[in-house]
Amino acid sequence: MKTLFSGIQPSGDIHIGNYLGAIRNWVRLLDKYQCIYCIVDYHAITIEYDVQEMLSRIIGAATVNIAAGLDPEKCILFRQSDVVQHTELAWVLNTVTPMGDLERMTQFKDKSRQHASNVNAGLFTYPVLMAADIMLYKAEAVPVGDDQIQHLELCREITRKFNNRFGEVFPEAQPLLSESPRILGLDGKSKMSKSLGNTISLVDSPELIREKLATAVTDENRKRRKDPGNPDVCNLFTMHKGFSTAEQLKWVDEGCRSASIGCLECKKLLADNMLADIAPIQERIAEFAKKPDLVRQILDEGARKCRVIAEKTMDEVHGVMGFK
Ligand code: AMP
Ligand code: TRP
Repeated sequence: MKTLFSGIQPSGDIHIGNYLGAIRNWVRLLDKYQCIYCIVDYHAITIEYDVQEMLSRIIGAATVNIAAGLDPEKCILFRQSDVVQHTELAWVLNTVTPMGDLERMTQFKDKSRQHASNVNAGLFTYPVLMAADIMLYKAEAVPVGDDQIQHLELCREITRKFNNRFGEVFPEAQPLLSESPRILGLDGKSKMSKSLGNTISLVDSPELIREKLATAVTDENRKRRKDPGNPDVCNLFTMHKGFSTAEQLKWVDEGCRSASIGCLECKKLLADNMLADIAPIQERIAEFAKKPDLVRQILDEGARKCRVIAEKTMDEVHGVMGFK
């Protein structure tokens, strides 16, 4: 089986965008690849964070992923800082990565604007560490949301640069997009994102989720109940596609276009379906919350397995680089 790698930052509560854009896809891919999933804590420190909260965020992110279906019997789940070779390989890859490519990264430009008082070198070389994550395991498939596609293109470029200079060590990793590669936030404008505060979290209470959906922005041209709407430009409809049946989608699509249903009815159905989908995940999260040691053990075991692969890759890297 081919190796697949993906990561998620422990930078806040995991939201519906992460779930539809990435995690649900990760679960579906468990039987098709040798899957390695990573809580990328070293990536999360490239923006300001609360030191007191870091560990609970790491455990929290791992818990949500396991509860959502990342069965530790079927994949490796670990955290990045437990395997030192990630930063080691990142250093090596820095030396084959053109500055100009990093300067073009949209996420770097966006985050530099958002965090203008802390534009650090780690934020700049973030995609190099991401390339190291993937390449360390010679992963060939990387399931992500569409915001990470540019980083993956750079990863492939870094792979080619390394292979050209030192020999064919690494395969070129291909992105795998889910059916919902980009979920917008409640504002209906920017990407749903932990740092923008426009999220529905997987651990929000049912009441809060209904409340958030009730205020979520829909097709802005549909000002009154009797105006027809356009589901193609409505973020709520994008979310429906992640949670509703084909029949329900048809009902919403036709009802919205003909104004026979209003946004309230559309939102109510979405809330019902979303809550039904995530209720079992929330139950499992509550179970795991009682056993934080178990989650830590799963991460430790994952790191142990990863170190074996990582050491082998670094040995090969040192060999081709003339260090041995
Ligand atoms: P992050 O929270 O930035 O670590 O992202 C973890 C995964 O979720 C990545 O694969 C992202 O591409 C994906 N993701 C994050 N936000 C969204 C979104 N709003 N829509 C779809 N996918 C997303
Ligand atoms: N940068 C990714 C994000 O913010 C997280 C990530 C880190 C990642 N390393 C990775 C994703 C390797 C895929 C593969 O979403």
